[in-house]
Amino acid sequence: MHSEYKFSYEVFDSSDELSQEDAMLLNEARNTTKHSYAPYSRFRVAAVAKLSDGKIIAGTNQENASYPAGICAERVLLSSVSSQHPGATIETIAITYDNENGENNRPISPCGICRQSLQEYEYRQSHPIRLILGGMSGKVYIISKSSLLMPLAFTSDELK
Ligand code: THU
Repeated sequence: MHSEYKFSYEVFDSSDELSQEDAMLLNEARNTTKHSYAPYSRFRVAAVAKLSDGKIIAGTNQENASYPAGICAERVLLSSVSSQHPGATIETIAITYDNENGENNRPISPCGICRQSLQEYEYRQSHPIRLILGGMSGKVYIISKSSLLMPLAFTSDELK
């Protein structure tokens, strides 16, 4: 027997094609890349969440001279929401980056550790987290549910 995993996502040629609400969130993320602390990679990432009550919360990557101590924008964001707005529901997260060493015109998607964290957050809040992935310009992807990026995830169910 074979099992197959497929997922689909939306592709837009630019942020001009997004709804006003999504374009505003991505734009907020683009502006927030300036708060990243990335003196080592010079790859400034921002993740900005819209909560169900309309609040906008931001996270940026924070690097360290001891490289593994650095933390990605997505996990900074999730920790902030959980600590500052406990019980709040995240509807959508826009993720973007400003690569000071190269191009920044195609979407990036969250790294593996962040995918693990996103899927657990979704599970905790029993509500899908929509992702808007884009660069400072160029194509934009919309993924309806972050856990789609984590097939066969290891979850708390396994620890029972
Ligand atoms: N980074 C993020 O913040 N999020 C991702 O999803 C990918 C990578 C950061 C980590 C590091 O500070 C820099 O980007 C280069 O890897």
